[in-house]
Amino acid sequence: MPTGTIYDLGAPGRRGVSLPSLAGREEELLALIPEGARRREPPWLPEVSQPELVRHFLRLARLNYGVDSGFYPLGSCTMKYNPKLNEQLARLAGFTGLHPLLPEEEVQGALAVLWELSQYLRGIAGMPGITLQPAAGAHGELTGMLLFKRYFQERGELERRVKILLPDSAHGTNPASAAMVGFRVVSIPSNERGTVDVAALEAALGEDVAGIMLTVPNTLGIFEEEILKITELVHGAGGLCYFDGANLNAYLGRARPGDMGADVFHFNLHKTFSTPHGGGGPGAGPVAVSEPLVPYLPVPQVVKEGERFRLDYDRPKSIGRMHPYFGNFLVLVRALAYILTLGDEGLREVSAGAVLAANYLKEKLKNTYKLPYDRLCKHEFVLSGEGWGEVRTLDIAKRLIDYGFHPPTIYFPLIVKQALMIEPTETEPKQVLDAFCRALEEIAREAKESPQLLREAPHTAPVRRLDEARAAREPRLRLPRP
Ligand SMILES: Cc1ncc(COP(=O)(O)O)c(C=O)c1O
Repeated sequence: MPTGTIYDLGAPGRRGVSLPSLAGREEELLALIPEGARRREPPWLPEVSQPELVRHFLRLARLNYGVDSGFYPLGSCTMKYNPKLNEQLARLAGFTGLHPLLPEEEVQGALAVLWELSQYLRGIAGMPGITLQPAAGAHGELTGMLLFKRYFQERGELERRVKILLPDSAHGTNPASAAMVGFRVVSIPSNERGTVDVAALEAALGEDVAGIMLTVPNTLGIFEEEILKITELVHGAGGLCYFDGANLNAYLGRARPGDMGADVFHFNLHKTFSTPHGGGGPGAGPVAVSEPLVPYLPVPQVVKEGERFRLDYDRPKSIGRMHPYFGNFLVLVRALAYILTLGDEGLREVSAGAVLAANYLKEKLKNTYKLPYDRLCKHEFVLSGEGWGEVRTLDIAKRLIDYGFHPPTIYFPLIVKQALMIEPTETEPKQVLDAFCRALEEIAREAKESPQLLREAPHTAPVRRLDEARAAREPRLRLPRP
């Protein structure tokens, strides 16, 4: 079987399509293209037959690994199955063919989708305001930090409120987002139970603090039991509370960030609400806000007047736009479809299933691997790959590929040495969870008996160990023309 690029296939003159002949019309057609825009030499195109072309792309597609091909327990990423119904709805021509500049009267249906989704998400968050514009979780964080800034600017406190407090168990994008808008990040240590050290938080609070960013549940998969105390303390010091909602799968339909004291909460629709993600595809990170921040939300807002919908740009205190037009619209369609098809009870079942699956795996695997925080977890948990001599977490992860599983997130969160962060999600059956446990138990046996097998894994994948850091830092994405 050929393995190279499409340029390694075919032969000069070979074609996959037959185009109508231009004979006799070259001059006439050439005259349509301005001199400066004409090619000086023919393009370098592959010359392949149709079967060669089809086989090439099918081979590439088979190399891909996704949620639809197997278990994908990538911690913090909520790689769950996306119902195909939602894909079909997002592909309806009435949605895909819409132009974003159409007048309001002609897009009442699309505005209804935005408005209805906003209502549901506000209800799920328990918060009065929302924007659907942000294109990802981190973009939601940026929006939230800009909202914090505008709030303090309006109160004349921006000069002195320069710090954002961040538990050391927060997701990595949180400090990056705070720093991007100019806040100074102050790390708050976790206690031995894996939650925020409230005494350290109290000590850090003061008139220079703009607020806190909490990942809920945190990146250990642990819910902050003292969340009400934490938000009360921050509010008491005049600060605001940001909740990172990328982990909402853990308590969807069961608890509302608004009731816990959140001022800003971002959803990762592409994790919790049915959009395939990974590889930088389109996502959506809507941001819900508490009452004091509503005036600063991005424009436009969709409003309902009687039975009609309208875009409201008249919001003088708004931070402005965070995305052209209305965000990633088709991701929003999928989320609405997911909410409507599951209903209240279905959404509650999502979080119940996610937490049950994570605790089931955790209890089984803690007999074999170290579990630094041995507690009831929410939707994910973190093991340590320490204790296997020369075998490291990376080796365990690579060996899992040979067993047919996508590896979990590794080396994150940083507060666990040799971390293996496992998030099974609610859509995996028990048989798959059991098979995954068996693979990890087998790998533990191999780590003792034949560590070299792990050090050199994967053995069955199309490529072996790659220099991942170099691939990310020096990507070579273009094939030089010979
Ligand atoms: C807890 C948490 N917060 C924020 C993000 C950032 O979300 P996004 O990748 O959509 O920017 C992630 C993504 O992995 C996450 O897991």
